[in-house]
Amino acid sequence: MKMWSGRFRHPLDPQFERWQRSFDFDQRLLRYEIAASAAHARALKNAGIVSSDELISILEGLQKIGQETGSGKPIEDDEAEDVHHYVEKHLVALIGDLGYKLHSGRSRNEQIVTDLRLYVRAAIDELRGQLSELCDAFVRRAEQADIAAVPGYTHLQPAEPVLLAHWLLAYVEMFLRDADRLADCRERVNACPLGSGSVAGATLTLDRALMANELDFSAPTNNSIDATSDRDFILEFVNVLSLLALHLSRWAEETILFSSQEFGYLHLPEAYSTGSSAMPQKKNPDLLELVRGKTGRVIGAETTLSVTLKGLPLAYNKDLQETQQPLFDAADTIFTLLPLITGFMKAVEFDYGRMSEAAQSGFMNAWAAATYLVKRGVASRLAHEQIGKAVKLCLEKECELQDLTLDELRALNPAFDESFYECLKLKSVLAIHDVIGGTAPDRVRQALAAARNKIEALREEVHAHA
Ligand code: ARG
Repeated sequence: MKMWSGRFRHPLDPQFERWQRSFDFDQRLLRYEIAASAAHARALKNAGIVSSDELISILEGLQKIGQETGSGKPIEDDEAEDVHHYVEKHLVALIGDLGYKLHSGRSRNEQIVTDLRLYVRAAIDELRGQLSELCDAFVRRAEQADIAAVPGYTHLQPAEPVLLAHWLLAYVEMFLRDADRLADCRERVNACPLGSGSVAGATLTLDRALMANELDFSAPTNNSIDATSDRDFILEFVNVLSLLALHLSRWAEETILFSSQEFGYLHLPEAYSTGSSAMPQKKNPDLLELVRGKTGRVIGAETTLSVTLKGLPLAYNKDLQETQQPLFDAADTIFTLLPLITGFMKAVEFDYGRMSEAAQSGFMNAWAAATYLVKRGVASRLAHEQIGKAVKLCLEKECELQDLTLDELRALNPAFDESFYECLKLKSVLAIHDVIGGTAPDRVRQALAAARNKIEALREEVHAHA
């Protein structure tokens, strides 16, 4: 039996009927639908609408549906309009007309949004767990890299050497911010719409606090009109995913570049690369390219959601059904990416020799050289100018700053002495960046310890929600 056929004189156009259904994709909400229905059934019992015995039958029936369909295989059902209809239909098949009583006082409008909140909350917990593993892999590689240096770029031109660990920790910062954003989003997701009814609130005096508590929500939502039509939490979640994807994509782009023959800072792990069907020598960075490519999907989902929501009057409109697929697609995309990237990071081979060579050429010690003069009392603008002239001389002579003679240097400024050559060495150049957040090895060691602590805290939080 349909959930709404009473007032209709004519059957639906079969093509339309098929087309407007959502069961193909909302069936993944089944476990949440069952949990939410159980909470509603308990509230009905408290409101005196179902008896204790009836409640037991309903709960047993719901449990059975959960067991029968918990295999994860796609469910084929020629009748079910959506996950709500599917559960009602099966409940009636199991316990008879009592199954229809479950719908007393509630509306699918509150049900779908409850299921979606439960789904997003679980997805957040899962993703934060995955992010902690990803960060852990980055931090381990940073620890292994010790004091290995790599060129730091601005404008993609060599700028100053940095520790490889510092570069890796830059990404850890982004991912930890993403994990924080997910936690922040979770706070707003974690409110229970049950009892909001269709638009005006349930038609029975149901105990909303009880239902919220039952489903581990922090509180009932405040306003029934908002609760049934609000999908901010989906958009907010996908916003966070799109920002995370964007971070992953920047990392992928940079890693592709660094893996190229021209840079050669790292070797792609074979387990995560593919060959060319034509050119026998090729090893291609497909994982990284797909990470970059799939970011487009996630940003697309974010855009789809914004556009779907922007013109909707309050409260529920069927357009809202269209928010589900972008949500699932964005979440699935990130779910599959994160463990792959973690695997890639464990396997990637850094070429420390090549990086360090690159970090010691191309005048990346020029700012340190100017700082040498500044520390000797030379005004920074003049020091900049004088080292600029030294670089110009090097370009003519095809050498590096450390190859200039003291006489050549003193012609630019008499403040130069022997100690200048020490300050040009990679070790000294790294060491002078001795500020919080800088690349001096001691500072990076502190940053590593701080990142470790944050990852531990994240793991504990994830564990607490499990
Ligand atoms: N399948 C619908 C959705 O995803 C469920 C809610 C239907 N409500 C309604 N009034 N037709 O939005």
